[in-house]
Amino acid sequence: MLNELKQKALKEIQGAKDLKTLEELYRQFLGRKGELTAVLRSLKDLPEKERREKGKLANQIKLELENIFNQKKSEIRNLKSEVQDGWIDITAPGILPALGHFHPITKIRQQAEEIFQSMGFTVAEGPEAETEYYNFDALNTPPEHPARDMTDTFWLKNKKLLLRTHTSPVQIRYMESHNPPLRIIAPGRVFRHEATDASHDVQFYQIEGLMIDKDVSAAHFRGILQEFFKRFFGPEIKIRLRPSYFPFVEPGFEIDIKRGKGDWLELMGAGMVHPNVLKAVKYNPNLWQGFAFGMGLDRLAMIKYKIDDIRLFYSGDLRFLKQF
Ligand code: PHE
Repeated sequence: MLNELKQKALKEIQGAKDLKTLEELYRQFLGRKGELTAVLRSLKDLPEKERREKGKLANQIKLELENIFNQKKSEIRNLKSEVQDGWIDITAPGILPALGHFHPITKIRQQAEEIFQSMGFTVAEGPEAETEYYNFDALNTPPEHPARDMTDTFWLKNKKLLLRTHTSPVQIRYMESHNPPLRIIAPGRVFRHEATDASHDVQFYQIEGLMIDKDVSAAHFRGILQEFFKRFFGPEIKIRLRPSYFPFVEPGFEIDIKRGKGDWLELMGAGMVHPNVLKAVKYNPNLWQGFAFGMGLDRLAMIKYKIDDIRLFYSGDLRFLKQF
């Protein structure tokens, strides 16, 4: 009778598929009103000898069943988590890892570099912390020159270095180490100690351009610029040259562009390289001539992407940056 009960319990426990069934079975056999519990309770009415024998067996079975219950319980639990963790729905759409991307200024720089490179320009670079010589003197801007006040300079503590106020010092560095003829562009960050507003920030980017050859005129310059803007913005772009002044060029211009029906926007300074600049790098100004320009990269990006505040580029605001 006890052994039959045991076999029945074992069979049902082994067949249990979930924890709920298992709990019910526990109640059925080992609970307060369980079948085995009933047997154990009835022992007290038996004669002494029979009670001892049956009691021993019943307690043994109770222990055995309890062990089996616990075993089965962890088996079901493991199985469940295996199913949950190991389940792969191969038809579900994949989860793409969040990929970063280039900053809008970087994209514009790369596009501009590509266009100029296709026209034979090489990309050059120079340091952001410059000497007074490269930022001013060699660019025909001696210490007392009024043009030094055109831009407010960030001087570094030791007074020997400054944060470059334009990318024009790269012209000097490149010409010092290369012989003409040459064509370069030099993209980079520049700094000005000025109040910020929607179109000015204390740091921004420029692309410097320089072409030196034996016979280069302002007409070449205009042609190259026209081609650049046509490729960068499309055929609806118009450019306009206005006379302007920079100490390192003569004559100097300012270039405005107009997109479709938009307004004229000032985009860059430029001009024919001043003979004093050529002399500073030991080029013979009677043999060599050329043009230079300094284009605002942020302005270029603002026009291309129709952004009205330059400070957004440096805000680190992901809501802004993720649009590009
Ligand atoms: N360096 C000038 C500026 O930052 C721009 C410029 C470059 C003008 C080259 C003429 C020639 O305003």
